[in-house]
Amino acid sequence: MSSVVVVGTQWGDEGKGKVVDLLTRYADFVVRFQGGNNAGHTLVVEGKKFIFHIIPSGILYEDKMCMIGNGVIIDPGVLIKEMAQLQAQGLTITPDRLMISEAAHLIMPYHASLDQAKENALSDGDKIGTTGRGIGPCYMDKVGRVGIKAGDLRDESLFRDKLKAALDEKNFLLTKKYNAAPVEFEAVYRQFQEFAEKLIPFYGNISVELDAARKKDQNILFEGAQGTHLDIDHGTYPFVTSSNTIAGNACTGSGFGPAYIDAVVGIMKAYTTRVGSGPFPTELFDTVGNELQEKGHEFGATTGRRRRCGWLDGVVGADATRLNGVTGLAITKLDVLSGQSELKIATSYELNGKSYAAMPSNVREAGAVTPVYESLEGWKEEIDHIRDYDDLPLKAKEYIKRVEEVSGAPANIISVGPDREETLLLKNPFEK
Ligand code: GDP
Ligand code: IMO
Ligand code: MG
Repeated sequence: MSSVVVVGTQWGDEGKGKVVDLLTRYADFVVRFQGGNNAGHTLVVEGKKFIFHIIPSGILYEDKMCMIGNGVIIDPGVLIKEMAQLQAQGLTITPDRLMISEAAHLIMPYHASLDQAKENALSDGDKIGTTGRGIGPCYMDKVGRVGIKAGDLRDESLFRDKLKAALDEKNFLLTKKYNAAPVEFEAVYRQFQEFAEKLIPFYGNISVELDAARKKDQNILFEGAQGTHLDIDHGTYPFVTSSNTIAGNACTGSGFGPAYIDAVVGIMKAYTTRVGSGPFPTELFDTVGNELQEKGHEFGATTGRRRRCGWLDGVVGADATRLNGVTGLAITKLDVLSGQSELKIATSYELNGKSYAAMPSNVREAGAVTPVYESLEGWKEEIDHIRDYDDLPLKAKEYIKRVEEVSGAPANIISVGPDREETLLLKNPFEK
């Protein structure tokens, strides 16, 4: 039995969905443990593209159990729509394939309204560039002990009381502070009664199920969302998301004991991207940045925003290895670097004569550092057809080796294209 956590090492969109899909064939359970539908995980199977926002990427395999853990926040309308879309594509979504934790909090309509109203009220330099999906306000309510849990939908009077109390406060904020439209009780109440009917059959105790799975020697795959540097504690705060995105939260967000985690796969794009605002030391504003953006089709899977692009940041990588306890890397989108004559990797930062081996926690410092680069020779040939490590161009192998050295973890998976098959699995994290 093995339990493997997959996390993003950068600022999200590293290719977690693709790698989770690839590793699902070795797993019995696939578990989302944090975030909500701010995530957009893209999978390509035999040329067909799927984007998941809330359902674990393992759902394409008919014989696996997918779970939405207590650490996730669920927008029921989005979840139900995603279920319907998958069903329309021929998949069966039944309670023996998908389980939802009753302890997961619900994203309510006023959360999205507040998220957008708050962003609109900020000046340009202060805007976080959130996905506008209500993530921050929902986690605020959870921590503030006034959130509504999935399980509350089972108890009509509890749900009614909590919704009333919430609207009392939220509508005051929306109308008086943000000059936005209020949210009407009856409409939300009725809509959520319909959601309840559809979701309650999927409820279960995920912690109990995972413990039973562990005792039966079954394999569990935890699917992270966002990335290490968007973590609420360890990321470039306040330009972060509102949950812990690092591997430790796989345990908290599902009710699974830390001693049972065997491996942590850090997904690392061969260069760096970021959507939304915030420090990005290796960001490129030149033609190379544009080439990466175009060749990598770097547009957000959730909001369609153009992703900012830059060189690989080894400081970000080393931080991620430490924070997550990464045991192996999956280097993705290596094919996008083909054709670049020179490649750069940041190995440290400098600011005011001081050298930094880790991201400064002061956001202004993080935004002002200058990366110290080392330069490597690129390779010309396309590599997306390659399936054997030995067949990679020598310069690509040298690049991978340097990425391993600066990040402090071995490259166990190399991805050379978006399709499930465009992958070199050098070491399977489920095998000890
Ligand atoms: P996630 O949020 O980490 O799951 O990543 P996204 O799905 O948001 O973004 C990654 C994008 O890169 C998706 O469009 C994937 O299909 C694509 N992708 C993943 N791996 C590779 C790869 O090795 N090469 C190329 N060219 N595209 C890839
Ligand atoms: P996946 O799982 C990339 C970013 C937003 C914004 C910040 C806060 O696909 O990698 P939020 O809506 O969470 O309050 O926004 O975090 N962000 C992501 N960026 N990939 C994601 O998810 C992201 N989820 C949130 O762009 O800068
Ligand atoms: Mg994404």
